[in-house]
Amino acid sequence: MGGAAKTRIVLLGPPGAGKGTQAKRLASELGLPHLSSGDILRAEVGRQSPLGIRAQSYMDRGELVPDALIIEMIASRIEGAEGFILDGFPRTVAQAEALEGVASIDVVLNIMLERGEVIRRLTARRVCSDCGAIRNLASEGLDESASCPSCGGTLSQRDDDRQEVIEHRFDVYTEQTAPLVSFYRERRLLADIDGSRPSDEVHAAVLRELTQ
Ligand code: AP5
Repeated sequence: MGGAAKTRIVLLGPPGAGKGTQAKRLASELGLPHLSSGDILRAEVGRQSPLGIRAQSYMDRGELVPDALIIEMIASRIEGAEGFILDGFPRTVAQAEALEGVASIDVVLNIMLERGEVIRRLTARRVCSDCGAIRNLASEGLDESASCPSCGGTLSQRDDDRQEVIEHRFDVYTEQTAPLVSFYRERRLLADIDGSRPSDEVHAAVLRELTQ
C-alpha cells in the first residue's frame, strides 16, 4: 500500500476544500477504497432508490441527510475493512460516535479552506459524467463548453454547486461538522492541512501525515 503507515483515514473539511480531489489520488496511489458519502448518495439519487428519494431534498437544499440513513449506509461498507478513505463522513458528532463503534481510525486529515475560496472553487467546479474526474473551469482555464481533459467526456455542474446552496452548505459545515475538529483533536487523531495551497502541495502534506 505505497508504504503508508496509516490506512484508516478520514478526510474532514468544508465543502470544496479538496477532499474528493485528494481522496481519489490517495485511493489510486495507496490501493485503498475511497468511500465518498456524497458520491454514494448521488448514485442513489440517480437510480431513485428509496434512500435516494429520501436524501434528494436535503442535498438539493444543502442540508445534511439524517444521521440514521447515513450511518447505516457507511457502516455496512467499512465493517471489517483493513483500510479505507472516508470522504464526507462523519459529518456530525453522532456520526463520529457511531463510527467509533464500527471501526478504529488512524488519522483524521482536516483540510482547511476559508469561505471566499470555497465559493470561488465550487462555482467553477465541474465533474466528468463519464470518468468522474473533478475539474475546475477557473484554475484550469476551461470554458463552459469544454469536454473533460482526462477522457473527452461531458463536464457537468453539481445541482448543489449554485452560489446560494454553496453558502448554506458552508454554514451547515460550520454549525454541524466543525465541532468534529475538537472531537478528533481530543482523541489525538487530527492533522491540520492547509487546503489553500496547490493540489500537489496538499497531496505532499497529506502523504507526510500518513507516513509519520
Ligand atoms: P459531498 O459530496 O460530501 O460534498 P461536500 O462535503 O460539500 O464536499 P465537496 O464534494 O463539495 O468538496 P470537496 O472537498 O470534495 O472538494 P473537491 O475535491 O471536489 O456532500 C454533498 C451533500 O450530500 C451534502 O450537502 C449532504 O446533503 C449530503 N451528505 C454527504 N455526506 C453526508 C453525511 N456524512 N451526512 C449527512 N449528509 C451528507 O474540490 C472542489 C473544487 O476545487 C474542484 O473544482 C477542484 O478541482 C478544486 N480544487 C481541489 N483542490 C484544489 C487546490 N488545492 N487548489 C485549487 N483548486 C482545487
